[in-house]
Amino acid sequence: MKRVADKVALITGGASGLGAGIAKRFVAEGARVVITDLQEDKGQALAYELGCQFLQQDVVDEQQWSTIVKQIEIEHGALRILVNNAGVEGPFEGADPENTTLSDWRKIQQVNVEGVSPQEYRDRFEARLPQGEYQTKNDVASPVLFLVSDEARHITGTKLVVDGGGTLGS
Ligand SMILES: NC(=O)c1ccc[n+]([C@@H]2O[C@H](COP(=O)([O-])OP(=O)(O)OC[C@H]3O[C@@H](n4cnc5c(N)ncnc54)[C@H](O)[C@@H]3O)[C@@H](O)[C@H]2O)c1
Repeated sequence: MKRVADKVALITGGASGLGAGIAKRFVAEGARVVITDLQEDKGQALAYELGCQFLQQDVVDEQQWSTIVKQIEIEHGALRILVNNAGVEGPFEGADPENTTLSDWRKIQQVNVEGVSPQEYRDRFEARLPQGEYQTKNDVASPVLFLVSDEARHITGTKLVVDGGGTLGS
């Protein structure tokens, strides 16, 4: 039995990165997936590859949310799963110390001031992880799939940390 068979799922920011990995797993597990993203070309290409639907959406635009949800419900039925994945990792440009978290600010200093490249930053970050390696897309997609599946039907409002042990070491 597929784990999210016939459930209608919206994955924001699904055109690339972790969202694309989640979309792929959800399609394989039988969900009726709609991916949304700012990036139309990538989103359309992935939707074609996976056999699901792409809609362009900017998640900060409230009006677009109601239009998108209405369209999904008309075309597919009730929306059962929302993966609010869209986001940006951290402000690397135009950041200032007053409006940036300390960890982001340190990251900016490392990249922009100490001259550490993003790859060096990633290597250092990885070296500090107890599990010793950065996550794969599936390391994130699998727990997301668990949380939206019937296996987790009695779980509500909980927080699942998926960070390779990063917060244990901090
Ligand atoms: N990769 C990590 O290690 C990591 C760690 C912690 C949190 N996250 C969070 O997980 C999510 C996915 O991360 P990722 O590494 O796959 O990032 P990514 O940049 O590879 O993908 C994010 C996707 O979201 C889309 N997007 C950005 N702003 C949007 C908007 N306003 N409306 C619609 N789509 C938008 C982008 O176009 C992109 O396709 C992000 O929210 C990120 O902050 C990632």
